[in-house]
Amino acid sequence: MTLVVHAIDAGYGAVRVLHQLGFSARAGEVTCILGRNGAGKTTTLRAIMGLLPLDAGAVHLGDEDISALPASETASRGIALVPQGRRLFGALSVSENLDVGLMARRASSTRTDNDIREHVLTLFPRLRERMKQRASTLSGGEQQMLATARALCIEPKVLLLDEPSEGLQPSIAALLRDTTRQLAEDGVAVVLVEQHIDTVLALADKAILIENGRLEKSLAKDQLDATVLSRHLGV
Ligand SMILES: Nc1ncnc2c1ncn2[C@@H]1O[C@H](COP(=O)(O)OP(=O)(O)OP(=O)(O)O)[C@@H](O)[C@H]1O
Ligand SMILES: [Mg+2]
Repeated sequence: MTLVVHAIDAGYGAVRVLHQLGFSARAGEVTCILGRNGAGKTTTLRAIMGLLPLDAGAVHLGDEDISALPASETASRGIALVPQGRRLFGALSVSENLDVGLMARRASSTRTDNDIREHVLTLFPRLRERMKQRASTLSGGEQQMLATARALCIEPKVLLLDEPSEGLQPSIAALLRDTTRQLAEDGVAVVLVEQHIDTVLALADKAILIENGRLEKSLAKDQLDATVLSRHLGV
């Protein structure tokens, strides 16, 4: 299913952050969002998710206009967000954090809680060994796995990932990259905010560049190379 963002304006109170921002993300593809710190990448994902009201424009999922829906409703339609900084329930166990994800599960799901739990634990076996451990005591990599696993509990059609590899060692980042690739191959529309050029090159089917809350450029896969990306990311 295609996610289409139509010329949205959004911000915080009187502060307008996004200006007429538009792009689409297709099922089976990884769409990367690039931009400098403060460009509005996180704000874009929050606006899609329904955590932030739109001041103008619209968001469509397939045929449906989801612009005015709160996050609980976008989740039940199959949109999942893995937030920047993970945002787990630190005092809850790994297992309880997964329960939170399962509670947000899509109404249309035909699988049982147990099936879904087994599926996400197969993707991240490290979590299985730590089901009773408090989330706050997990390593950074394990926390990212749990945040991802929790999002996958809703069996998303659209997965919004906000800098999943931030601060992780390369081997864990590579594992998450493989999982992301697999999800796209399984037909999920992945929207990935990412600063690491090698990850963008490895995963992106296309990329959009945001500057000061505006769409600056849209790059197809064959336009993505390290020189272009490093120029845009200013690294
Ligand atoms: N809750 C908030 N209230 C007011 N302003 C905010 C809030 N959250 C973000 N902003 C502002 O909105 C702008 C865009 O922030 P956003 O978090 O979307 O950037 P970003 O591209 O994700 O940056 P980073 O790469 O640092 O994560 C920034 O100027 C930021 O200060
Ligand atoms: Mg951000």
